[in-house]
Amino acid sequence: MKSGLTEPYAELLRQAEGLFEDERDPWANSANATALVWELLPDLNWAGFYFLRGGGLIVGPFQGRIACVRIALGQGVCGAVAQGHSTMIVPDVHQFPGHIVCDAASNSEIVVPLIAGDRLVGVLDLDSPSYGRFGEGDAAGLEMLAARLVAACDWRLAGIDGFEAG
Ligand code: SME
Repeated sequence: MKSGLTEPYAELLRQAEGLFEDERDPWANSANATALVWELLPDLNWAGFYFLRGGGLIVGPFQGRIACVRIALGQGVCGAVAQGHSTMIVPDVHQFPGHIVCDAASNSEIVVPLIAGDRLVGVLDLDSPSYGRFGEGDAAGLEMLAARLVAACDWRLAGIDGFEAG
């Protein structure tokens, strides 16, 4: 077990470290991160990233059904987390005012911010068909994954607001 993380997060973090070790490209690392999450975490119907670009969020690498492409800051769970910079666990998405329905199968959701220093890079969003699927253990594990990913990448390569090249 790693830093108190329970399985499957200890294994997820172990594998993420291996994947990110020799690579600084944000698209490569975030794409592999979604594959890892999808493979190791049970009971998901969507897992992926939205990144901050042009003053709003745009969909990045993901696993699952086709998703909405752009989300304004403050809109839905992803937009709320992008604005507030802290993780949100939504046990029943149908009770969340302004929740954005991408896949009608989603009943609960967790969204974790990606923060570099004090700047938002984007958010990691996981959806489940089960109500109440996500808890504090998931938040801790996914926040650690987000921190590793943020540290592993050169965000200037991805056109993220505030991280422009040169
Ligand atoms: N449900 C999210 C939108 C993204 S999809 O779930 C992939 C939200 O309300 O922000």
